[in-house]
Amino acid sequence: MDAETTNSRAWTAYGSHHLERATAVPEVDRFTWGFRPTGPGAEVLGDLAGRRVLDLGSGLGRHAAHLVREHGALVDAVDASPTQHRRATARYGRLPGLTLVLADAVDHLERAAPYEVIYSVHGLAYIDPHRLLPALAAALRPGGRLVFSVLHTTSDGRGPSTTVAPRPEILPLAGGGRLTVRMWVLAPDVWESLLGDHGLVVHRIDVLDAPEESDPLSCRLFHVRHRDLSRASGPRGA
Ligand SMILES: C[S@@+](CC[C@H](N)C(=O)[O-])C[C@H]1O[C@@H](n2cnc3c(N)ncnc32)[C@H](O)[C@@H]1O
Repeated sequence: MDAETTNSRAWTAYGSHHLERATAVPEVDRFTWGFRPTGPGAEVLGDLAGRRVLDLGSGLGRHAAHLVREHGALVDAVDASPTQHRRATARYGRLPGLTLVLADAVDHLERAAPYEVIYSVHGLAYIDPHRLLPALAAALRPGGRLVFSVLHTTSDGRGPSTTVAPRPEILPLAGGGRLTVRMWVLAPDVWESLLGDHGLVVHRIDVLDAPEESDPLSCRLFHVRHRDLSRASGPRGA
């Protein structure tokens, strides 16, 4: 089975698990890019009032709902898992300004009008970057902003890969049990090079460490701009 099929099955099982348990999850009162509420918040996305924004791999949709309610953004939230989508629609299906889309992210990017801002809280690493990044670059306006968080080092101290290949990681289930996913946990310079191949320029990478010094768990938050080719090429002749 290929990595993305494994992930699709795992996220569908994950959503079913939470639907069956009717897991209570609190609202987001502060945007969290890592696994804990530390580090930068929603301000890194800039002024979102009235802007078209895409949440890629939106899961339950809590971050998207927060941006709609607190920042006046118009958010499309795309997720490929039918059970995650069911959780999201049960919770936010009537929130004006939020559109919950059940689709593969690449399929959605290929048919959507371009976005000013695209972000992802731990969604990118489940999708083959060679498949995702061309579609992502085409769906982001020139000058537009891409911000995403990804795993860098696991709790057992395993650092990122230096080659573009997925690897098995554990997705724990509340109440016990675990699923296996296959993730692209890549070194920052590998992400930077992949993004650069599609005109996506990394401006800053934040380190999001676990608050406990004894826990090696660490994420990275990438701040990326779509190169504005019209400006990069300088003034045009008549
Ligand atoms: C770690 S969860 C992200 C949770 C969410 N961003 C949040 O902040 O609560 C990853 C999500 O990515 C979704 N996903 C994985 N592959 C996808 C794909 N190809 N297209 C769209 N969503 C995908 C999964 O279904 C899952 O809900």
